[in-house]
Amino acid sequence: MLTADSGAFVASSTRFEQLRAREFSRLDAGGHTYLDYTGSALYPDRLVADHATMLRSAVLGNPHSESPASLASTALIGEARARVLRFFEAEPDEYVACFTANTSGAIQLVGSAFAFGTDAPLILSVDNHNSVNGMREHAARAGAPVHYLPLDADLRLHDVASRLEVLRQTHVGAGLVAFPAQSNFSGVQHPLALVRKARSLGYTVLLDAAAFVPTSPLSLREVPADFVVCSFYKMFGYPTGIGVLVARREALHRLRRPSFAGGTVEYVSVQHGTHLLRDGAEGFEDGTANFLAIGAVVQGLDFLDEVGLPSIKRHTSRLARRLADELRALTHRDGAPLVRVYGPDDHYDRGGTIAFNVLDGRGRVVPYDMVERRARTERISVRGGCFCNPGASETAFQFVPDRAALCLDETRRAGWSLLDFAARMRERDASHGVGAVRASFGVPSNETEVERLVALVRGMR
Ligand SMILES: Cc1ncc(COP(=O)(O)O)c(C=O)c1O
Repeated sequence: MLTADSGAFVASSTRFEQLRAREFSRLDAGGHTYLDYTGSALYPDRLVADHATMLRSAVLGNPHSESPASLASTALIGEARARVLRFFEAEPDEYVACFTANTSGAIQLVGSAFAFGTDAPLILSVDNHNSVNGMREHAARAGAPVHYLPLDADLRLHDVASRLEVLRQTHVGAGLVAFPAQSNFSGVQHPLALVRKARSLGYTVLLDAAAFVPTSPLSLREVPADFVVCSFYKMFGYPTGIGVLVARREALHRLRRPSFAGGTVEYVSVQHGTHLLRDGAEGFEDGTANFLAIGAVVQGLDFLDEVGLPSIKRHTSRLARRLADELRALTHRDGAPLVRVYGPDDHYDRGGTIAFNVLDGRGRVVPYDMVERRARTERISVRGGCFCNPGASETAFQFVPDRAALCLDETRRAGWSLLDFAARMRERDASHGVGAVRASFGVPSNETEVERLVALVRGMR
């Protein structure tokens, strides 16, 4: 008998299958299993078609002038700014949207212009993408302390509110706290309440939403971060080359840009060695904006709103849960586990991303590149490696600091390669991996793709 729950599940699955058939038919036509949405979403057919239609009828010029073609581009950029703010429920009185090349570019804008100092530290979570970790170089140059908030063994942030309170007592000035809303390693969704907590302690907060917003709704009314960063290709697959820094006006005003470029200035005088930076978002947008692609940002956000992020979240989390449960249930013939799934055993506060390793009959990790290679022959796209997230990797793989330092040193001297580093680490202890396999889900994903990946792993017994 169909219960209300199972009825809703069937209706939702049918809707996503219909979307897959209508907008992503190239997947089945090419025999693809695509499971790397944390790497990049896939674009719906409709998005490129609608964008092409728009481009074919528009006359768009470089926005830095007053011609009709230029004004048309300026209007398009203005429309995109307003649409981005509406998408994140960010009040235009409080927030601005600065377009960048990608998430990394948006983080770089903040890192290079934040007033770090001996009394204004940078506080990062151990779970961070390297583009966030990279800010520590700016902090170090300013003599600012850098602190890391640790992860539990299940890759959730550990006791984070009280740690921040303790840290706050160690300095007078306020610093910058940066963490991801969702881990690009484990799919764990970190507590967004940390944003209000850190702000209440006087910190400025950068929320890396790159892995979160493609499949989860984010409201800046509820989560009042100072800076939010993301890339649009991760949300709807097209266009690449545009990201955004959504910034609280007051926090943006406190940044001090280390340089200027065309487009960011009201004037520059060579004679007098002076310049005047433009106000607001435009003071942070170096050079000519991607004015041809920006119209697709509006159309892509419309697409996500139409499908509905709450249902995308349910859809992707359900598939991830099924994958994790089925992988965990796989065993060798003697009952020993075939797979180690990283992150929490429960599925609470977790997005549609699963990282795992295959184990051999003696409990040793099978190198991730072997799994990747097998997947490639079956046209299964998964991601292998450390996913630019060294902190989550080191915690998940339980790196012993002395041993890791030795292997890092040896591999650097021999000419760096992650695979060589992994081999050196394995020589010393084969029960822990270096690098894993990541499967992540998006709008077009379906049960068949889960089954294909599980069958591939089962075949490695
Ligand atoms: C959580 C997170 N932050 C930042 C980035 C960097 O994004 P981009 O390469 O688009 O700059 C990524 C990319 O995978 C990510 O997953």
